[in-house]
Amino acid sequence: MRFLAVVGALAILVGIGAAVYLFGGFYSVAAQVEDPAVMNWALVQIRSRSIRRNAADAPPPDFQGRVAAGAKAFVQRGCPTCHGAPGMEWAKFSEGLNPSPPDLKDIAGGLEPQHIFWVVKHGIRMTGMPSFAAAGVADDEIWSIAAFVKQLPKASEGDFKAWTGQAGAAPPAPDASAPKP
Ligand code: HEC
Repeated sequence: MRFLAVVGALAILVGIGAAVYLFGGFYSVAAQVEDPAVMNWALVQIRSRSIRRNAADAPPPDFQGRVAAGAKAFVQRGCPTCHGAPGMEWAKFSEGLNPSPPDLKDIAGGLEPQHIFWVVKHGIRMTGMPSFAAAGVADDEIWSIAAFVKQLPKASEGDFKAWTGQAGAAPPAPDASAPKP
């Protein structure tokens, strides 16, 4: 009985301590602060398992033929701002995101098409990755974007320019120092 009382009292103390720490403003939400390794590990596990469980949609039959349309949409929807693209610079501010946006050409080879589709459609909460469905992009266009992302590891700068039909110049990055209209 006495043992249980001690355990109960300790649990209450831990709860009070956590409440003071979190609601007292002691926990830092600054993006420069690195999370402890164990928390990082847990967040990555939770993210990848959640996506694996939810990403169930099959790609359309013409998936492979959508690469050029997907490259155009990738540029128009602003993905290079955070993820870069062949011959296109990432916006400087993307270095300040935590977690940092991955270089898609390094990781796309290991991602299933339905995984890419799900992430672009729904976004990833508490990261900078937006939901493009919430931003009004139709599933059809998102499948094209996923087809392009799948091809990224093999795409040269020349391919990318041909697909997008542009000189590969970066769109003007939003300028944080610009005066508000
Ligand atoms: C404002 C910045 C930003 C924009 C714009 C953005 N992303 Fe991301 N994206 C991120 C961040 C940050 C992550 C990393 C999330 C994480 O670590 O959990 C990410 C992750 C991803 C991933 C990897 C998911 C995984 O499971 O590893 C893919 C694929 C992706 N983005 C594709 C896109 C595409 C395609 C677009 C454009 C339609 C886009 N992103 C636009 C910030 C962005």
